[in-house]
Amino acid sequence: MLTVNEIRTKYFEFFKARGHTVIPSASLVPLNDPTTLFTGSGMQPLITYLLGAPHPEGNRLVNSQKSFRAEDIEEVGDNRHTTFFEMLGNWSLGDYFKKEQLPWFFEFLTDEVGIDASRLYVTVFIGDEKNNVPRDTESADIWKELFAKKGIEAKVVEIGSEADGYRLGMQGGHIFYYDAKKNWWSRAGVPENMPAGEPGGPDSEVFYDFGTPHDPAFGAECHPNCDCGRFMEIGNSVFMQYIKTHSTGSGQAGFALLPKQNVDFGGGLERIAAAAQGDPDVFRTDVFWDVITLLEHFSGKQYDDSRYKRSFRIVADHMRAAVFMLGDGVRPSNTDRGYILRRLLRRASLHAQKIGISAEKADDSMLVRSATIILEKYDEAYPELAADEVYDMVADEVWKEEVQFGHALVKGMKEFEKTAAGGHISGEQAYVLFTTYGFPFEMTLEIAKERNIDVDEDGFKLEMKKHQELSRAGSEQKFKGGLADHSEKTTQLHTAHHLLLKALQMVLGPQVKQRGSNITSERLRIDFSYGAKMTKEQIAAVEKVVNEKIAEALPVMRSTLPRDEAEVLGAEHEFGAKYPDMVSVYSIGPRGGNEVKPQYERAFSIEFCGGPHVGNTSELGTFKVQKEEAVAAGIRRIKAVLV
Ligand code: ALA
Repeated sequence: MLTVNEIRTKYFEFFKARGHTVIPSASLVPLNDPTTLFTGSGMQPLITYLLGAPHPEGNRLVNSQKSFRAEDIEEVGDNRHTTFFEMLGNWSLGDYFKKEQLPWFFEFLTDEVGIDASRLYVTVFIGDEKNNVPRDTESADIWKELFAKKGIEAKVVEIGSEADGYRLGMQGGHIFYYDAKKNWWSRAGVPENMPAGEPGGPDSEVFYDFGTPHDPAFGAECHPNCDCGRFMEIGNSVFMQYIKTHSTGSGQAGFALLPKQNVDFGGGLERIAAAAQGDPDVFRTDVFWDVITLLEHFSGKQYDDSRYKRSFRIVADHMRAAVFMLGDGVRPSNTDRGYILRRLLRRASLHAQKIGISAEKADDSMLVRSATIILEKYDEAYPELAADEVYDMVADEVWKEEVQFGHALVKGMKEFEKTAAGGHISGEQAYVLFTTYGFPFEMTLEIAKERNIDVDEDGFKLEMKKHQELSRAGSEQKFKGGLADHSEKTTQLHTAHHLLLKALQMVLGPQVKQRGSNITSERLRIDFSYGAKMTKEQIAAVEKVVNEKIAEALPVMRSTLPRDEAEVLGAEHEFGAKYPDMVSVYSIGPRGGNEVKPQYERAFSIEFCGGPHVGNTSELGTFKVQKEEAVAAGIRRIKAVLV
């Protein structure tokens, strides 16, 4: 039986032998990507390179990316869902393409990992006439040949659409054409949902067939993408060759070819391990299994006892995710990432109690022991987990949270009992339990369910939303402030406005501060502190700086940061304004992403700002100052345009 460490090593070796350089995993905390709290796929940290920037390690890369998907927290408990996973990735940055990628992955699975080829089923993109993206017959042909080499005659079939319930079923096929919903990959999903400037492309997925009977609860017919459990996706080769050129303005999405054709392959390491074992339960792969065995030993309960299985899985999954988060600097708190980590640790603690293990002191804590097992398992592959201090810190944080949660639980349970005595829990009551007593909403739900008490879930969500909107309102008012609308021209001028402020500081001195702004689709206007009329030369110098930055085609990036951190970075903000704890900042430049250092630390311009902005300064045209005048003592005004 291959361990996950062995499979990862084999994968690296395999691709190294094919000209790839091993690159380290980026942090779980995304550095340049405000769209998610955590890195959720291998391509996220590499997006700049997929868009064409040269990678310092070359154009063939291989890695295993730490990934976390918070949206899967509630799903954990079945045999395949995990929140944290390692995504094996191999990357062609404008180098090889389909005819290398598909055979390599197939060879890796069958010859290196030893998976029986007849159990593999693959999918390819059916094409999208509306968006002018052709059917991927090339991939289908390559797969046919690969299966043939293993003595398998692989029939190619069309599966139909989701709308008709994929009722055509297997049809004796090995190679399946699916539509964009299943075989198109971009960060935003299907072509229609992609914003302009977003890269994407058709993909080809590989599924492993565990041979379990179809469960009709998931549809009349089984097929590779069916969720009944017979098939599990173990790898996805994305042929990232398109970029969305314009969004829905004309009612149709437009695509252009990227300057280079890329391969973004992602495969779940644990899932490949499960397939290698021929056991659909990923929790029986070695990493989880070691934790589960420990829990079995100390609780005297069996994993195979259906009363406890879900809890065993939740503890094992959540502890592993928590360890990796702690390793990347996240600490339990009540906001954003810290809140997710807290939720994981508290859920793990709750489910450990369900299995029947609770701790009086740190030495007895099964959560701490589980964390140690996990650290030992991974500290070679992930050196950030290896130091003694990390072991200590993890044990500390886990135990602290367990103790706090224990207290909260006792208090919360009392309050819960009072509330539940009414036989119904309103949204507001659940919200109070959560905010005032730290009693997680899902616990309210779980316990209420056990006791047949009804909970107003929608009401709770509404309360949460109200609260979030209140705390956001202050900042948004400021962000929207000077913008007349969000049209394309206004957005371009908004980005130019950021460049201009920085250029003014460069030419006139760092004491220049913004004192007001107003942007329409025709022109931008900035008021700033400066004591004298600008000379012609100064105006020309400012124009030159802005136009140089436009010519440099700098990426514009949004990040969400703690306010203090943004202030330390020198992000421009309005004097005297009050900002929330977490702020949105926009940074412009430098070119080329960098996983080691946050982009914004080396930015040309950085401002507290809610957007919107263009994706790249190359979209701006030519910048021209129209007028420079006084508005008040010590305040000047510039009106400028993009032509
Ligand atoms: N980027 C692709 C995925 O996440 C490989 O599935």
